[in-house]
Amino acid sequence: MADPKNSGMAELEGRLAGEKFHADFRDRMTYGDYLQLDRILNSQSLVTGTHDEMLFITIHQAKELWMKLMIHELEAAVPLIQKGELRPAFKMFARVKRIFDNLLQSWAILNTMTPSDYMRFRDGLGSSSGFQSYQYRSIEFILGNKNRATMKVHEHRPDIYARLTALLERPSLYDEAIILMSKRGFAIDKACVERDWSQMREPNDSVIAAWRRVYQENEKHWDIYELAESLMDVDDLFQTWRFRHANTVERVIGSKRGTGGTSGAVYLRKQIEIRLFPELWAVRTDL
Ligand code: HEM
Repeated sequence: MADPKNSGMAELEGRLAGEKFHADFRDRMTYGDYLQLDRILNSQSLVTGTHDEMLFITIHQAKELWMKLMIHELEAAVPLIQKGELRPAFKMFARVKRIFDNLLQSWAILNTMTPSDYMRFRDGLGSSSGFQSYQYRSIEFILGNKNRATMKVHEHRPDIYARLTALLERPSLYDEAIILMSKRGFAIDKACVERDWSQMREPNDSVIAAWRRVYQENEKHWDIYELAESLMDVDDLFQTWRFRHANTVERVIGSKRGTGGTSGAVYLRKQIEIRLFPELWAVRTDL
C-alpha cells in the first residue's frame, strides 16, 4: 500500500509484494511506447472477421518479424565471412538456428486450424500469398537460392524491387564462404569466385574437393569446418521448414491451387528438394 505521507501527485512509485515499481509515466517512456505496441497491436485488421483469421494473421505477422531479425543476423554475418572473422559470425548463426526452431514450432499452432475453418476466410485473402513475402525472398537470396522470376510480384513496388535486386546481384553468403576458402589457398575454380552472382550456382567439383579437405584436415581449418557445419544446420532447418509448410498446406487445402496462383502443394513439394549448399551434401559421400 502507498505510504500516505507520499501519496500526492509527486508519488512516482507503486508497491506490490513488498517491492516498489515506477508508476508515473506522464514524462517517461513505457514498455508500450518503446515497443510501439499501439502500432503493432492495431495491425491485425481482419477482412472476414472469422475466428481463425486472427490466428492466420498473427502467425504470418510474427513470422515476418522473426524473418526481419534473421535478415539482420545474416546481413551482419556476411562482412565477417568476407574478412575471415568467423568466430563472431557463429554467434549470428546460432541465433538464426534458434529462430528457425521457433518458426518450426508455429506449424503446430497453425495445424489447429481445420480445412473448414480456413475456407471460412480464404476468399478474403484475394490473391495475397506468402509467395509475395519479400523478406522470405531476401533470406533465400542472401543464402543463395536465387531466382529473378520470383521478384516479378514486386514490380509495382520499386523500393522492394531495388532491395531484392541488390541481394540477387551480389555474392550470397555461401559464395562468400567459397571466396574465403579461395583466399585461404584452397584450389577453387575461377568460375566460382568471379561470376554473375544473380545466377543460381551449379554444384562444382573444386568446391567439393575444398570441403573434403576441410573435413579431412579439420584440425588445420577449424573455423571453416565449423562454418561448414553451421551452414549444414541452416540448410537442414530451412528444408524442414519447407517440408512442414508443404504438409500443412496439403492438410488444409489438399490439392487446391494457391491464392498466389501456383499449383499449391505440388509447387511446394518441388521446393522441398532445394539444397542451398549442394557441395556440403555431396562431400558426405566422399568422407
Ligand atoms: C493454412 C495456411 C497456409 C496455406 C494454405 C498456405 C498456402 C501456400 C501456397 C499454396 C503457397 C504457394 C504459392 C501460392 O500459390 O499461393 C504458399 C507459399 C508460401 N507460403 Fe504459405 N500457406 C499457409 C501458411 C503459411 C505460413 C504460416 C507461412 C509463414 C510462416 C507461409 C509462408 C509462405 C511462403 C514464404 C511461401 C513462398 C514459398 C516459396 O515460393 O517457396 N505460409 N503458401
